[in-house]
Amino acid sequence: MRHKVAVIGGGFVGATTAQRIAETELADVVLVDIMEGIPQGKGLDILEACPITGSSSRIIGSNDMADIEGCQIVVMTAGLPRKPGMTREDLVRDNARIVGGVAEHIKRFAPDAMVIVVTNPLDIMTYLMFKKTGFAAHKVFGMAGVLDTARYRTFLSLELGIAPDDISAMVLGGHGDEMVPLVDCTTVSGIPIRQLLSEAVIGNIVQRTRKGGGEIVDLLKSGSAYYAPSAAAVQMVKAVLLDQKRLLPCSAHLTSQYGINDAYVGVPVVLGSNGVERIIELKLGQSDLDQLQKSAQIIQDNIGLLGL
Ligand code: NAI
Ligand code: 2OP
Repeated sequence: MRHKVAVIGGGFVGATTAQRIAETELADVVLVDIMEGIPQGKGLDILEACPITGSSSRIIGSNDMADIEGCQIVVMTAGLPRKPGMTREDLVRDNARIVGGVAEHIKRFAPDAMVIVVTNPLDIMTYLMFKKTGFAAHKVFGMAGVLDTARYRTFLSLELGIAPDDISAMVLGGHGDEMVPLVDCTTVSGIPIRQLLSEAVIGNIVQRTRKGGGEIVDLLKSGSAYYAPSAAAVQMVKAVLLDQKRLLPCSAHLTSQYGINDAYVGVPVVLGSNGVERIIELKLGQSDLDQLQKSAQIIQDNIGLLGL
């Protein structure tokens, strides 16, 4: 069976996500954007790379949401980034309008699809997608933890001079400055990180991870990260399409786990063909649990701005 993935939003994150899926022959792709010509042009360009990369994936660009019909997964990247002078509330309002509109189309044209939300503010937009599609919670989840964890592993790798692949870690909580890198669970080929680095160095890396998105924005000046975000989204797409049962941090709907009720927050989940197949409830230390609950409270306060 050929898999089909719809990527909504043909901007930086959406186009690189489409490129990664097509180049690795993971699925056929439909790239949808409201800008005329942009998804068609980028889609054709990616398709024309396939003879070189050796992929037989088919990719089309479209301005018509009806073209998402038959897809197994929708990756939602459409939305505005925050511009100077714009408050978080402005961004919530503008992106809520976009996410709400796209959710109606997903419900109509791809009622059986899973939805991976990337649009910021991530945990709030994932909650909105869940509410507006009316899909079961295991079918709607958000990408942030895989990205935040990749940044944390990168910084540890640079400090240690050890391959990032040997560093096992997890960052939980909301996708914001209050995220929770789990230092107690961070190991290097099984060795607890505290045996290799001092508390001060680990503390600096935790802070750099929390500000990881902002560090890229400061360097790029216009726009935000997209290479690592698209790699993270594709890791989640792959886990679902190939039923890999990966244990990954994703924004998932909590209904009492970790003492948090009715919010999307980054937690460890098992991702497979049924989407979020299990939420893993870790026995966190009191400080990590307090931070996770504080992060969830900020998300819940922002959900209030949606006026649902
Ligand atoms: P971008 O501005 O390059 O692309 C957004 C695209 O969405 C534009 O091409 C725009 O025309 C399109 N769009 C707007 N309304 C649409 C609609 N109703 N239907 C279809 N397409 C529509 O932005 P970029 O860099 O691709 O980022 C996209 C979103 O992802 C932003 O909200 C950003 O903050 C977020 N993001 C989230 C990350 C995470 O970790 N969750 C990481 C990186 C970005
Ligand atoms: C990031 O963390 C902007 O959420 C985006 O790069």
